[in-house]
Amino acid sequence: MHAGSGCGLRFPVEEDSALGSQCPRCGQPTRFVDDAYVTHELSAEHTGARPHVARLGVLLDNVRSLRNTGAIFRSADALGVSLAVLAGITPTPAHPGFAKTALGAEHSVPWRAAPDPLAAAAACIDEGWALWALEGGTTAVDLFAPATAECSRARSIMLVLGHEVSGVDPRLLAMCERVLYIPMVGSKRSLNVSVAFAVAGYAVQRGLCPAPG
Ligand SMILES: C[S@@+](CC[C@H](N)C(=O)[O-])C[C@H]1O[C@@H](n2cnc3c(N)ncnc32)[C@H](O)[C@@H]1O
Repeated sequence: MHAGSGCGLRFPVEEDSALGSQCPRCGQPTRFVDDAYVTHELSAEHTGARPHVARLGVLLDNVRSLRNTGAIFRSADALGVSLAVLAGITPTPAHPGFAKTALGAEHSVPWRAAPDPLAAAAACIDEGWALWALEGGTTAVDLFAPATAECSRARSIMLVLGHEVSGVDPRLLAMCERVLYIPMVGSKRSLNVSVAFAVAGYAVQRGLCPAPG
């Protein structure tokens, strides 16, 4: 339901929500200005897409933030991720604050915790995962570079994400089959790690497969 205030701010308010009684901009009482509207959920025809890879996974190398990790889980659910490896200090769904950004995805995304990211990466390779790091550096290739025919639907791709400040451990990076960077246009040199995962997760899940550097 829309609530409009004396200053002209227009914003949606859920029915019975105390948030709608006072305008956050001018402090005046709000009033309803329009009919209620329903939210715009994706319908059945927009969901259930078939991924272009056999399995998509994600390995978090010491991602320190609870909110980033929760947000990664929410995207992982959307992408149909079949395994999230939470390595090093990465928080797990056992933390009471995890659901704040995971919004229930902590129940749908299979995960395991691993204290040693290098051992966790080696175990994933043994299980048939190809590790593709999202990172910068001299070996990184453009995620959106022309795709090659080499990747098939039969492949299991695990995207590797790094720590918010120090990035992916170089020793882990050396274990990866590919290092992919997302081109940046503005003044910043990196994206938030959860945003980088969503961008690259969809590109890879839809079949983008740039040649290794
Ligand atoms: C905030 S970034 C770390 C930046 C860090 N200052 C560095 O130079 O490595 C955290 C993680 O997000 C991912 N990431 C962020 N921006 C990216 C980009 N443009 N391309 C690829 N990965 C990116 C990487 O996994 C990276 O390790």
